[in-house]
Amino acid sequence: MKHRVQPANRLVGDICPPSDKSVSHRAAILNSLAEGAAVIENYSGGADCQSTLRCLRSMGVIAENIPIEGSESGTHSLKISSPGLEGFIEPREILNAGNSGTTMRFLLGVLAAAPFVSVLTGDRSLRTRPMGRIVHPLVEMGCNIIGRQGGSLAPIAVRGGSLHGIDYEMPVPSAQVKSSLIIAGLFGDGSTILRQRSYSRDHTERMLEAMGASLVEDGLVVEVRPGAILKPVNVKVSGDISAAAFWLVASAVHPDSSVQLRNVGINPTRSEVIDILKAMGAKIRIENRHIEGGEPVADLLIESSELTGVEISGTQIPIVQDEVPILALAACFAKGTTIIRDAAELRVKESDRLFTTAKELSSLGAHIRETDDGLVIEGTGYLNGGSCRSYGDHRLAMTLGVAGLVAKDAVVISGSEAVDVSYPGFWDDMDMLTTN
Ligand code: S3P
Repeated sequence: MKHRVQPANRLVGDICPPSDKSVSHRAAILNSLAEGAAVIENYSGGADCQSTLRCLRSMGVIAENIPIEGSESGTHSLKISSPGLEGFIEPREILNAGNSGTTMRFLLGVLAAAPFVSVLTGDRSLRTRPMGRIVHPLVEMGCNIIGRQGGSLAPIAVRGGSLHGIDYEMPVPSAQVKSSLIIAGLFGDGSTILRQRSYSRDHTERMLEAMGASLVEDGLVVEVRPGAILKPVNVKVSGDISAAAFWLVASAVHPDSSVQLRNVGINPTRSEVIDILKAMGAKIRIENRHIEGGEPVADLLIESSELTGVEISGTQIPIVQDEVPILALAACFAKGTTIIRDAAELRVKESDRLFTTAKELSSLGAHIRETDDGLVIEGTGYLNGGSCRSYGDHRLAMTLGVAGLVAKDAVVISGSEAVDVSYPGFWDDMDMLTTN
């Protein structure tokens, strides 16, 4: 599918970004581990989170839409009713995680503890993404698990069951790996200790603690003590800051804009993008800060800003990696050079995001160069119109959509349907901000 985006005269309005993808996955998967029912308000409608529900249903979890009491607009909440991990049934079919790395990696932790045989696969992109980072420590925990290329690639077959606790130094700072091992650790025969080199998003730890799990966090070390009975927890999912980031950048870069983003999650392990944009000179105001379901939430207000290039590297990368493509676009409009380093992990996302971001933004006239582990962008203050492609990567499709709003001419994006993975209403929200 192709989508044509015309440069916008103005960007004005007020939107609620879509429900947080990371929190939605966790709300469904973690609640399924507990016996009983939980209601998840504002569960993500993105394809990734639907893949998670499809897999959970294959193991006997009931996930049903229920109308929200008092709501006239027909909005629904999701009710998860589960027999708990011990009551899961052996799936008859191969579990398909679609495009979703989070689904596959989290479920590997779940399946490692489930006493049956299962096979997990995904779409063409997911079948090329590294799974050894989870398979190897799960093998160390005593799990029978095999996959293509020595366990590095899906399809992956698991014979779950009894697991040992391990003391594990994580070579890759990854919230998905950490979460998968925390889940497996909950069902081990002793404590599992995970030693991280750098912080990554901590939604799993927050939610499991609310469910009664025994986790001891000491800086970069997480200890999982098995044995606690997990209780289901109702979750109200806030807006996804990784989706809000597209409008933050669009509004900062556009010369005539003022945008409000309501109810956005600003967990400190996710909100680095705000700090980076502020360091670049973006005029962002954070209002109405409050806590919802153990997660900090706020409204973000942003208007046209003069940006300056920055360096993004080291411990910033794991907590801003999903926003790198859109930050690269911001850098095209910033004075001076922006350097992004230590970001080789972007090469194993839904696309090789260093290659695809550099290639597509260059095709629009950006002065952007790919390095082994990052990008170097000389800000020129403009992008041209043109035709580009998403490589099936939702974050690239949305970055190119924003490029169309601020370029000199229209941008046509092929593979524009990729936005459905995390933000099915992206083009509608764009229309809303440009027709005011
Ligand atoms: C996610 C973690 C991140 C991120 C992904 C979602 C999560 O990956 O890129 O989009 O929900 O845990 P890492 O596992 O590399 O941190």
